[in-house]
Amino acid sequence: MTEHIYLMGFMGSGKSVVGKQLAERLNCPFIDLDEYIHSREGEAIKEIFNNKGESYFRNLEHQCLKKVSSGAYSVIALGGGTPCYDRNWKVLNGKKSIYLKCSLINLTNRLSLEKEERPLLASIKTKRDLYLLIRELLNKRRRFYDKAAYNIWNNVKIPNVVEKIIKMIS
Ligand code: S3P
Repeated sequence: MTEHIYLMGFMGSGKSVVGKQLAERLNCPFIDLDEYIHSREGEAIKEIFNNKGESYFRNLEHQCLKKVSSGAYSVIALGGGTPCYDRNWKVLNGKKSIYLKCSLINLTNRLSLEKEERPLLASIKTKRDLYLLIRELLNKRRRFYDKAAYNIWNNVKIPNVVEKIIKMIS
């Protein structure tokens, strides 16, 4: 490993699962940016949003991105919103970044089971509303995700995605 590998994509696109296996396969450390923020702040992401607000979280996210980027070469799974702020692209530009793509239907199905931990989705009541919100957010965010150096559909078994990524970036 001679550089970081950054995984980006919408919430629920599989960044952490793929990232963990990719790091194992490459024999390098894995960092989940949300987990890093959680342990640094001593509070779950949901609580940081609720107690201190989103802009506090976004500042913290930026500081933590800089911090992990200055450390040992690792596979780094970003939060779904991390690439959507220009200041974070000051760190990500020119780096090995991969956009993990996932269909709107798959995202809705996955996130309908896991939305409680996600402050941006927690208040949504029906699956239809969840679908509409994901569609709206994805439309806004796609142009940022498309800045990644590589992209890959996460629609096959995880070990296959990992092997495809390794081939793609080597
Ligand atoms: C967010 C995604 C979350 C987390 C926070 C905000 C977003 O990360 O950083 O809830 O804006 O999309 P995951 O993509 O790991 O769920």
